[in-house]
Amino acid sequence: MREENRRILVVDDDPEMCRLLSEFLQGEGFHVSSTGDSLEASNLIQREEFDLLITDLKMKGLKGLDLLEEVQRVAPLTPVIIITAFGTIESAIKAMKMGAYDYITKPFQMDELLLTLRKALETRYLKKEVIRLRKEVESRYQFHQIIGKSPSMQKIYDLIERISDTSINVLITGESGTGKELVAKAIHYNGVRKEGPFIAVNCAAIPETLLESELFGYKKGAFTDAKSDKKGLLFEAHEGTLFLDEVTEMPLPLQAKLLRVIETREVRPLGDTRSYPIDVRVISTSNRDIESLIQQGRFREDLYYRLKVIDIEMPPLRERKEDIPLLIQTFIERFNTELKKDISGVSEEAMKILLNYSWPGNVRELENVIQRAVTLSHSGKILPEDLPKALLQKTDERLFEKAIEEKYTLDQLEKEYIRRVLLETGGNKSKAAEILGLDRKTLYRKLQEL
Ligand SMILES: Nc1ncnc2c1ncn2[C@@H]1O[C@H](COP(=O)(O)OP(=O)(O)OP(=O)(O)O)[C@@H](O)[C@H]1O
Ligand SMILES: [Mg+2]
Repeated sequence: MREENRRILVVDDDPEMCRLLSEFLQGEGFHVSSTGDSLEASNLIQREEFDLLITDLKMKGLKGLDLLEEVQRVAPLTPVIIITAFGTIESAIKAMKMGAYDYITKPFQMDELLLTLRKALETRYLKKEVIRLRKEVESRYQFHQIIGKSPSMQKIYDLIERISDTSINVLITGESGTGKELVAKAIHYNGVRKEGPFIAVNCAAIPETLLESELFGYKKGAFTDAKSDKKGLLFEAHEGTLFLDEVTEMPLPLQAKLLRVIETREVRPLGDTRSYPIDVRVISTSNRDIESLIQQGRFREDLYYRLKVIDIEMPPLRERKEDIPLLIQTFIERFNTELKKDISGVSEEAMKILLNYSWPGNVRELENVIQRAVTLSHSGKILPEDLPKALLQKTDERLFEKAIEEKYTLDQLEKEYIRRVLLETGGNKSKAAEILGLDRKTLYRKLQEL
């Protein structure tokens, strides 16, 4: 920034001093406002943004220290240089303790002032820069509605950026609640198709018998209930995106028909003799192991490859725990607004519990837990008692429950326990061996079996 753009406010009830300073600083190319009236100065500070304040310490009305306080309230980044004729160490120290940038005792050399002033302006610039960068970084932690700063989420943002302007079909896989639908919408609304429709079809929720007519539409009289023509969802999605949620639940005959639509880019409604061209991007999701469904003959392999030209695998929340605090903060703010609450954050102990939990229901589960906690909390903070019991259980209690539910063998239980202890010790094998009552060699052997 050039110096003529820097705005400096000079406050001194000695008119001669005020004039001298102003002329000198103007001569140096600064934009200077000056006043001998500290109340007027206070008004100016509230109305305008100054890059620097130079103020006398002893004045009638408001004192220099009061002005300092005022600046810190309304413009905390603006540095304040104190001028004092009395140069008492105490008042200067007090000003510095309150956050003044520096002080100068009268009489002083103008060059001395200039040096201090330039340093102060530089500091302000750097501080502003840090804030700007932080904002930029924060915005990288968010993509459309998706929150996450973990490297795995950043990679997903990059991928979305690269594919949203194309019409390539995308398959999004991942456990329930990991944000598959959120990503599908981000791809649509980030790209050239955003002006077109986003049509969502949940293949698991629509009865098999209806799914075909919903997707393809029909001509009047195609079947008994077809009282008039009906446009299918494939047509509705023309020039936009068709979102096929839980695509693995689609019956096999329909899978074949969908494959033909993707290959020929044409749709033939039920009972129609003609096919019609369509331009649709298909984004589908699955939370099941598609490859094993293919092996079982329950999903067409050729369709699979057509759908997953690009595939995005959503990481489970337990594998990107660094995103948990950020998500919690976002959800608290959201539910504060929705529920008219004023929760400031999460106590340290509650945060520990939230970070330790394995989140089988992923972000959706976290969202629900925070909604519940914001509702229940009456301490202004989320405390352990505001969290569901399941989160409070010790890890090994949960392990036992899981072992009983899933009928673990002793061998499985041992392996799982070793894995947990290793996690607990952050991968430190010596410590883990000690906890497990094994020597290191035995642990290494068991790890190899793992
Ligand atoms: N990264 C994220 N940032 C913010 N909110 C998220 C994120 N991931 C998921 N959510 C929220 O969690 C909930 C579940 O997300 P979404 O419906 O996209 O998951 P899904 O993977 O489609 O789950 P399912 O397989 O159960 O359909 C939504 O309320 C969504 O807003
Ligand atoms: Mg979903």
